[in-house]
Amino acid sequence: MIARPTRRACILGHGITYSRSPLIHNYWIKKYGLDAEYSICDLPEQKLPELLTSIREGSLAGCNVTIPYKQTVVPYLDAVDDTASTTGSVNTIYCRDGVLTGTSTDGAGYIGHLMDSHPAFKLKDASVLILGAGGAARSIADVMVKSGCSGVYIANRTFAKAQEIAGFQPDIIEPLEWSNLSAKAGVADLIINTTSLGMVGKQPLVFPLENTKPDCVISDIVYAPLETRLLAQARKLGRPVLDGLGMLLHQAVPGFRLWFGIEPQVTGELRALIEQDLQSHG
Ligand code: ATR
Repeated sequence: MIARPTRRACILGHGITYSRSPLIHNYWIKKYGLDAEYSICDLPEQKLPELLTSIREGSLAGCNVTIPYKQTVVPYLDAVDDTASTTGSVNTIYCRDGVLTGTSTDGAGYIGHLMDSHPAFKLKDASVLILGAGGAARSIADVMVKSGCSGVYIANRTFAKAQEIAGFQPDIIEPLEWSNLSAKAGVADLIINTTSLGMVGKQPLVFPLENTKPDCVISDIVYAPLETRLLAQARKLGRPVLDGLGMLLHQAVPGFRLWFGIEPQVTGELRALIEQDLQSHG
């Protein structure tokens, strides 16, 4: 009998100071008893073709992509799917039938976390207020439109970036000036902070929640700290909340499935493992 080689995947980036992706994927590899390994590939740009060739040839099952290559990798690929082309960035690469493909899993990760935590939440015809207009906001706005939300409002400090996202789907997405960020607070069913405000070392996000609907879900994609001021304020008012850690865990699910053929579960044990890591690494 010929032994099958160990399946490998990695996170591709450069100057990676720390990544939680190995912890997440190696947890699943162990849990599902796979002969596989997930590591960090910190490479200069001239080494990208070599790494991508190893995915095409099958010696590497695939990779995640982080700073600074989320946009840089696109010309090296044969195809990008719909989510990656809308968001203009790739965080996961896999190969099917010889076609090296890039996708972006942030939006799916956000929805996975939302549905896991608030299964009764109806995205169809919902109004969503997104604070921020960076890469994460793009992915989330895209998935909200595709999920049937009737209104997606994007407030951003640099208004032009909010306008740019609104340009994808002007009938549904409306840009808001940052000075007017709470204008839609009272109609929103879901409010999502995608800015860096509230992160360790940054200013907190100051947002008035008093006028929000009692069942409006208040969500932060910041996960360090886990309990941002926004979430603490929401809890105090009795609003349902959604923290940022779940999105980090759920955005890893599609990659694992594409590379190893198993739909991994985001378990309480995995969450506890990453929470512990957050406490030790911040
Ligand atoms: P990501 O890809 O994780 O979304 P990003 O692209 O750097 O990160 O986006 C960060 C977001 O936080 C942007 O919307 C940014 O606003 P600008 O587009 O005006 O830069 C927002 N942000 C960062 N600092 C901010 C601040 N002090 N006040 C308001 N918004 C801020």
